[in-house]
Amino acid sequence: MIKSPLQIARESYVPKMPSSLKGGIKIVEGKATESVADQADIEKMFPNTYGMPVLTFEPGDAKEYAAQNVGVILSGGQAPGGHNVISGLYDGLKKLNPENKLYGFLGGPGGLVDNQYIELTEDIVNHYRNTGGFDIIGSGRTKLEETEQYEKALVNCKELDITALVIIGGDDSNTNACVLAEYYKEKQAGVQVIGVPKTIDGDLKNEMIETSFGFDTACKVYSELIGNIQRDANSAKKYWHFIKLMGRSASHIALECALQTQPNITIISEEVEAKQQTLDDVVSYIANIVAKRAENGDNFGTVLIPEGLVEFIPAMKKLIAELNDFLAHNEEAVNALEGNKEKREFVAERISEESREVFVSLPNSIANQLMLDRDPHGNVQVSLIETEKMLIDMVKAKLKSMKKAGEFKGKFKGQPHFFGYEGRCAAPSNFDADYCYSLGNTASMLIGEGKTGYMASVRNLTAPSSEWMAGGVPVTMMMNMEKRHGEMKPVIQKALVQLNGAPFKKLVENREEWALNTNYMYPGPIQYFGPSEVCDLTTNTLKYEQQ
Ligand code: FBP
Repeated sequence: MIKSPLQIARESYVPKMPSSLKGGIKIVEGKATESVADQADIEKMFPNTYGMPVLTFEPGDAKEYAAQNVGVILSGGQAPGGHNVISGLYDGLKKLNPENKLYGFLGGPGGLVDNQYIELTEDIVNHYRNTGGFDIIGSGRTKLEETEQYEKALVNCKELDITALVIIGGDDSNTNACVLAEYYKEKQAGVQVIGVPKTIDGDLKNEMIETSFGFDTACKVYSELIGNIQRDANSAKKYWHFIKLMGRSASHIALECALQTQPNITIISEEVEAKQQTLDDVVSYIANIVAKRAENGDNFGTVLIPEGLVEFIPAMKKLIAELNDFLAHNEEAVNALEGNKEKREFVAERISEESREVFVSLPNSIANQLMLDRDPHGNVQVSLIETEKMLIDMVKAKLKSMKKAGEFKGKFKGQPHFFGYEGRCAAPSNFDADYCYSLGNTASMLIGEGKTGYMASVRNLTAPSSEWMAGGVPVTMMMNMEKRHGEMKPVIQKALVQLNGAPFKKLVENREEWALNTNYMYPGPIQYFGPSEVCDLTTNTLKYEQQ
């Protein structure tokens, strides 16, 4: 493997860990738990893993643990720190019993079903410590949800004598991990399943899971880039930069980046939905700020746009739901048509009048993007929808009519950007390196202690890492029933931006000031070496949520 100087220097970084994980542990059990909603339904579906207590690790006597073979899977989108979860898991397992072995299934959950694996040895793991990416074993988006897959996976586990699986994934993957844990427990198959909370989107969080790993690093990378763009904007004073930020549904990334960089405009999808705003409302909001800044001679600025915005505009949401349904049943007929124009017309004629109106009012490029293939979980691939370009065109058109009416006297030139993949595989910040290593270690302890259906949890994250609290949270505790593909299913509740939460309130307090004045903050690149107040910073989201 070719290594950069930073990679070489970073290999010897020793992640900081909670004191409770440093020696032997004692498990303290909390009270029996309940799911966040739909308790009766969830209990019925998870009779063996429902109601288990929250577990907290405290320092205890060293114990002997029987040797175990463990399998690990990386599932879904990349997030900085995945390699440290694996190194923390590896080191933890070896500490429990040097005979323990760790197998990595290749290319995500599909590797478990198809029996594609490697044994993760010290030599392999060492090359990946504190690095970004998921390339140690690769990732994938295959859904683990069919009994046939569970059975195949079981055969593969038995062949390798694997008695525990660790699934590192987002809300959907951890939901599937829980279903798998329940299935194996019901069958007394002898395979434990433990989840680890991953996603840069930051939407897998609750009282017990304070943040998902990767959010910290990804936001820092995007904020560095936004800061650089803002400095350019403030130097050249001639462009409005429209920056779309990843985060499939929730706007946590856009909000965190706004708090780090103080842009002129930040759109938060959850607010747009709560206020029942139309696309035109969003466009008018942006155009009015552009016009006001122009009155001060400032024909430049920055706009942060969350990736999932279109799905939160009520009329668009309805349109997308209809398209999902229509395309699921008529994929062949649509694909058989030659051009995009024919496809658009074919679809437009077959959806409701209300949705048709919205569909035909969209720029052709956006309408085409809305018809693209869905991901395996049935989601529109929002990262492919060029909302930033659409908004530039629409704001431009709005400003043209405002100019005619004498309401705008400035100039407007938009520059589109999309930051997403740039941040998902960055070298983990100290926070993510430490947090992930601790999560991996926690997962190894849960396995050693014979637990299943738990998610590894490390809390108290704004305190020094020695005071972090490690343990396990029953996955059923995070579940509710939601409609998926027309059927009610148990799923982990997605955490959207709370409009009464401290991070959003901070934005609201400041946004008028940031809109009209130029108060940009330039966070600069992630620092891996240097003073702790720069290197060990956590996110504003965590800071304000825990204040
Ligand atoms: P996960 O939820 O699997 O962590 O993935 C999140 C994400 O990065 C979203 O922010 C983005 O919309 C999506 O993945 C992109 O998916 P893909 O990697 O398949 O292009």
